[in-house]
Amino acid sequence: MKRKAGPQKAQHKWKRKLFTLILVGICFGTLVLLMHTQYSRIMKLPSLRNSQQNQRPKIAFLFIARNRIPLDILWDVFFQGGESRFSIYVHSRPGFLFNKATTRSVFFLDRQVNDSIQVDWGEASMIEAERILLRHALKDPLNQRFAFVSDSCIPLYNFSYIYDYIMSTRTSFVDSFADTKEARYNPKMHPVIPAHNWRKGSQWVVLTRKHAQVVVKDETVFPMFQLHCKTKSLPEFWRNRPIPADTSKQHNCIPDEHYVQTLLAQQGLEGELTRRSLTHTAWDLSSSRNRERRGWHPLTYKFSDATPMLIKSIKEIDNVYYETEHRREWCSSKGKPSQCFLFARKFTRPAALRLLNTTALELNRSND
Ligand SMILES: *[C@@H]1O[C@H](CO)[C@@H](O)[C@H](O)[C@H]1NC(C)=O
Ligand SMILES: *[C@@H]1O[C@H](CO)[C@@H](O)[C@H](O)[C@H]1NC(C)=O
Ligand SMILES: *[C@@H]1O[C@H](CO)[C@@H](O)[C@H](O)[C@H]1NC(C)=O
Ligand SMILES: *[C@@H]1O[C@H](CO)[C@@H](O)[C@H](O)[C@H]1NC(C)=O
Repeated sequence: MKRKAGPQKAQHKWKRKLFTLILVGICFGTLVLLMHTQYSRIMKLPSLRNSQQNQRPKIAFLFIARNRIPLDILWDVFFQGGESRFSIYVHSRPGFLFNKATTRSVFFLDRQVNDSIQVDWGEASMIEAERILLRHALKDPLNQRFAFVSDSCIPLYNFSYIYDYIMSTRTSFVDSFADTKEARYNPKMHPVIPAHNWRKGSQWVVLTRKHAQVVVKDETVFPMFQLHCKTKSLPEFWRNRPIPADTSKQHNCIPDEHYVQTLLAQQGLEGELTRRSLTHTAWDLSSSRNRERRGWHPLTYKFSDATPMLIKSIKEIDNVYYETEHRREWCSSKGKPSQCFLFARKFTRPAALRLLNTTALELNRSND
């Protein structure tokens, strides 16, 4: 019996061992699986969130300001709809500091470039400021468009709308036309810059990353401007009165109205441009009868001007006529006719605050 019972007992023991082994195995397996899923969840969550948000291309808004951004409250509402699809860089006078006392929007804190220069009467300082801003903004590879913004400029639409409009095309938006009427071209620039490449246009451009790099790397056109644009002129940005129509001041280059346009023409890149500005500027023509020697200056809208009607009339513009080239730009976006302007200037602070209270600007949903 013992001999019989022996194998039976041993079999039983063996079965129990196997059962325990399987149980331990299952437990261990489950534990490993559990730990693995927990671990990968911990690892995955932040990286997923990062890649979803951070991989989206951004528009870099490059603010050129004297001191503070007077319309910061309005931009604050605008950027609230931005969902990290933008970055901000500010060029202000050296020594001016953005802090809680000088701006009412957190978006402008810690956004100043640390090597700003004095921009005023003179030579190529304004375009150097533009190059400084681009140099900083290019360090972030997610910045895919570069929009220059003045301190009196307002957005006319909400963030998503402006983002889609700008990103929907692979071109830069550069106001650019042949400049034959004004004697701003200095023949001494020949042959480095031939006269047929001389262009005029607004400095408020939106550049693709490729064109931003061209501007930053430029070592031929910029030195020409430095060398031959010696007549000191107030940048258009600063101008509130007409430039005196003084014929003795020939070749007053006004670099900020010619540089980017001329450089891109010089590099044969005009085929990659939408040749118009996205920023509306109103010009006061009344101060000069003779259009050839006009002393134009941009109008500033004050509180009493800032009505929904004004905004509506700017938003309704759907084409721009370039006299010197007999060229009419019909504005389009995503292959459909569209309004031309996404931004407008120049607005005083009271004017901008008044607009924020109306339904003219759809900067956020509650305004729709
Ligand atoms: C939307 O704009 C209104 C002003 O018209 C403002 O009171 C409100 O706080 C804004 N909402 C957001 C989310 O920014
Ligand atoms: C600006 O900051 C960068 C790094 O953040 C530094 O390398 C550079 O030297 C600074 N420039 C000046 C002029 O302070
Ligand atoms: C805008 O509206 C608010 C509240 O409705 C008011 O307190 C403020 O004075 C208004 N601002 C302007 C500039 O009209
Ligand atoms: C932005 O504006 C467009 C056009 O005005 C509108 O269709 C859209 O609903 C707005 N989006 C938001 C988030 O307010």
